Amino acid sequence: MYEHALKRMTVTEGFEVLIDRERLKKRVSELAAEISADYQNRRPLLVVVLKGSFIFAADLVRELDIEHVIDFIAIGSYGSAQRSSGAVRLLKDLNHNIEGQDVIIVEDIVDSGLTLGYIYASFQARRPNTLEIVALLDKSWNGDSDLNIKYKGFEIPDRFVIGYGLDLDEQYRGLPFIAYPKENEESL
Ligand code: IMP
Repeated sequence: MYEHALKRMTVTEGFEVLIDRERLKKRVSELAAEISADYQNRRPLLVVVLKGSFIFAADLVRELDIEHVIDFIAIGSYGSAQRSSGAVRLLKDLNHNIEGQDVIIVEDIVDSGLTLGYIYASFQARRPNTLEIVALLDKSWNGDSDLNIKYKGFEIPDRFVIGYGLDLDEQYRGLPFIAYPKENEESL
């Protein structure tokens, strides 16, 4: 099962680190092993949701030992705010036709679930053979999101996080860990 990241913080270079690189690496390999086992002899299409998922996806696919195909979509919902605006729009669609394909959506973080809900419904309408979700982080576990996240990395507190692809106003994506922004920046 997924790990709980609650109450396991350390401080690294001024960041309040929630999940360090070793735990990320271990969990990403576990997720890749699960997916590899479930999709043996198939050739899933992994759909990476830009931009936040690019580092997670890059690490995940390098741990897969099955054939797979990658595609990308871009969704706009956040702007520079730390809370979802409620509006989701497709900025870049798939290059592949997914009808009859085994599709796995690769998402960095689920907050309200609005983004994934939108993507899921829009993909479902294109009649894939199977449609699953892998999400590294889940903040929605306390709420009433009815998304079925088959492969989940960590359940984390409902607080804004940065690093490992996740940004605050386009900053911090390159941090090799998941952290809370520093106090003064979190209140932006
Ligand atoms: P949702 O639609 O509310 O589930 O929000 C999902 C999207 O919002 C993610 O794909 C991220 O791009 C962004 N997001 C949500 N929470 C965070 C966070 O804590 N840090 C950075 N981005 C976040």
